[in-house]
Amino acid sequence: MIMVVMWRYFNGRTARRFVSTCSGHGWWDKVRVAPKNPIVTVNESFLADPFPHKINLVTGTYRDDDGKPFTPQCVGDAEAKINRYTLEETNSSEVSSKFVMESVKLAYGNDSFVVREGLYAGVPALSGTGACRLFAEFQRNFYPDSLIHLPDPTWPNHHNIWRQARIPVKTFHYYDPDTKGLDFDALINDIKNAPDSSFFLLHPCAHNPTGVDPTEEQWREISYQFKVKNHFPFFDMAYQGISSGDLDKDAAVLRIFIEDGHLVGCAQSFAKNMGLFGHKVGCLSILTRDIKQAAAVKSQLQHIAHSMYSSPPIHGILLVTMILSDPNMKEQWKKEMKTMANRIRAMRTTLCRNLEDLDSSFNWEHITNQVGMFCFSGLAPDQVRHLEKLFHIYMSPDGRISMGGVTPSNVNYLANAIHQVTRISEAASVCM
Ligand SMILES: Cc1ncc(COP(=O)(O)O)c(C=O)c1O
Repeated sequence: MIMVVMWRYFNGRTARRFVSTCSGHGWWDKVRVAPKNPIVTVNESFLADPFPHKINLVTGTYRDDDGKPFTPQCVGDAEAKINRYTLEETNSSEVSSKFVMESVKLAYGNDSFVVREGLYAGVPALSGTGACRLFAEFQRNFYPDSLIHLPDPTWPNHHNIWRQARIPVKTFHYYDPDTKGLDFDALINDIKNAPDSSFFLLHPCAHNPTGVDPTEEQWREISYQFKVKNHFPFFDMAYQGISSGDLDKDAAVLRIFIEDGHLVGCAQSFAKNMGLFGHKVGCLSILTRDIKQAAAVKSQLQHIAHSMYSSPPIHGILLVTMILSDPNMKEQWKKEMKTMANRIRAMRTTLCRNLEDLDSSFNWEHITNQVGMFCFSGLAPDQVRHLEKLFHIYMSPDGRISMGGVTPSNVNYLANAIHQVTRISEAASVCM
């Protein structure tokens, strides 16, 4: 006890002396607290809530039927095969090449000519976020006066990523709140009105946050207009397989653009479709005209990555490579992904039907019209707050529901809660 008191006394004195001697420098006096990510704030409130049946619909991760974090069986199987020896003896550049090869096959198709002919530059990245950031740095290095066109709305971090890379951001029309669907005409106008050779970011499937994707016909028109204007399409593919349950279907848009002769870029993430959120496994690929260009682009991407974090951790890359290159494991993964996608779709139907059964006076069809991990519910900020305070249900302030967190055990409770909060707002508007 005496030792502890003495330690605290001397430690406190040292800290006070340190503060008094360094206070003249003022190195970080200009630094103000950065704006807090609203999703992090909601997550913190969720964690602090002691209510045993609270529901987390904030983060876009898939939970099992009991609401627990879900790791596919194939990941557990692959993990069992990786031991300390494999980790330390692995030739990381060999594994990286194999990983990139398997990843681009997923994105562009097993038998795609771009893969067969090596018409791509690919590097492992720190998940989808890292892949976007690497691309933004690359864009800045080679097109320093360019800007990036982002859909309105988009995953909010897209704005931060490109701004941090000193690339100005412009938004283009995407979502129409009145129809809760795509504002296609306005989108096409924005593509036409952008300066020739602009950079655009597109979500190839399961748009975050709206769950609204263009139809195949609309994608073909978008690709055509891109060709006319010589725009560069950068695809952020964070949910391949989660939307339809089929890897090829979810990547069909990339293939449409390639058919039309676009040199696309693509960020891939294995956080959601393999449940590897904590491992940060992703891939950035950029298509090139020939293999000489591919080698040059790859070397520049590696150069940027090397200055930022040397190379990514190898463990997750080994897991993904093992699953993608073993036909049995890959089949198992595809089955598990289908199960995830099917459950998400089933929960959309149940949620919508339950709201109708409760005689809700609102139209909830958009819940089933939208696809993928997220439902842009249309709930207003005060309704979201009521859900939190009265029902311990947490979602992002814009009313985005992570459908991966809606399960057979909480969907009825959720439907009832949504019905109640919309009735409160209805009653309040009648009273006004
Ligand atoms: C569209 C989009 N891109 C990228 C990411 C980030 O992916 P990762 O977690 O792999 O960094 C997300 C995740 O929320 C996303 O929705």
